[in-house]
Amino acid sequence: MKIISAPDYQSMSRKAANIISAQVILFPDSVLGLATGSTPLGVYQQLIDWYKKGDLDFSKVRSVNLDEYCGLAGDHEQSYRYYMNTNFFKHINISMENTYVPNGMAQDVDAECRRYDKIINDLGGIDLQLLGIGHTGHIGFNEPDEDFDKMTHCVKLKQKTIDANSRFFERVDQVPKYAITMGIKAIMQAKKLLLVANGENKADILCRSLFGPVTPKVPASILQLHNDLTVVADEAALSLIRSKYPEAIG
Ligand code: PGA
Repeated sequence: MKIISAPDYQSMSRKAANIISAQVILFPDSVLGLATGSTPLGVYQQLIDWYKKGDLDFSKVRSVNLDEYCGLAGDHEQSYRYYMNTNFFKHINISMENTYVPNGMAQDVDAECRRYDKIINDLGGIDLQLLGIGHTGHIGFNEPDEDFDKMTHCVKLKQKTIDANSRFFERVDQVPKYAITMGIKAIMQAKKLLLVANGENKADILCRSLFGPVTPKVPASILQLHNDLTVVADEAALSLIRSKYPEAIG
């Protein structure tokens, strides 16, 4: 595990974007695993910026997103498909047919989960997976549980997650209660993992995830077992790690 510190959000975003950028330059047909949420927004903005300057070409890139809310169509402003289209895809030259997000409107959710696993499998797995981390320690929407859920599955969101995400909705009761998420297996089989985190309110969960016991009760703790994990975080998110394990920060 490599932990890279950044003084602030902008710097965190730029460093993480540099890693994705290197991946796309070295391997133009990469399969990128992509994430939503507030944290990666700056990463996408930076990549768009470099694309517009002519430094990046996404024409051969394929992407698979981590998750989608159940019950929200792709044109719903809070769906993750909409987020990806508006915050990233429509600003770069990726082919839309090469971008995959679970279908939150699928009637048969189990069939949709199996379809999504087959997509990932047919793509040959993920080359670089970008991850945020939730306050519960979730990665994608893999919430704390008794077991790690290996395959793509439907998950009941924790109240803490619903509360955290309610900032994007008019009312908390509009936040979907269920989501489809990529499972732990596809994430852990990604060749490289890139976890981004910022802000003081991520300090505790980041420290527990990276240095606590590996347990499904803190889903991100499984990342400790990956042999190519890079964490890029700002000093606020790293504050607890900095005080407990200063030698771990590169
Ligand atoms: P955030 O979400 O980036 O909006 O904090 C992270 C996550 O839930 O994975």
